[in-house]
Amino acid sequence: MKMFQKQDCYVITCEADKDYLICQCGQTRCPPFHDLNNCRCEPHRLNYSKKSMQWICGCAKSAEMPFCDGAHNPRNDMGIWDAIKDIFHSAR
Ligand code: FES
Repeated sequence: MKMFQKQDCYVITCEADKDYLICQCGQTRCPPFHDLNNCRCEPHRLNYSKKSMQWICGCAKSAEMPFCDGAHNPRNDMGIWDAIKDIFHSAR
């Protein structure tokens, strides 16, 4: 599966002071990480001083790439009551 076929975010745990290379082209075969054999992009490098959890976009709709900004949510265009009804009906 390629990176942006998931249509949802990838949650990764980044260890302190360790580099993580995130794919930017969507061609990776090991999403969300950069893949030397398939990627044609300059990867986005993550490195944090403390251990942290990161939400990486898997739908290619985020305005904050490579991070998920919630744009993947199919309920974004619904009003609050329609969203609640949709959540209720999907839980049945
Ligand atoms: S997965 Fe792309 S915005 Fe959330």
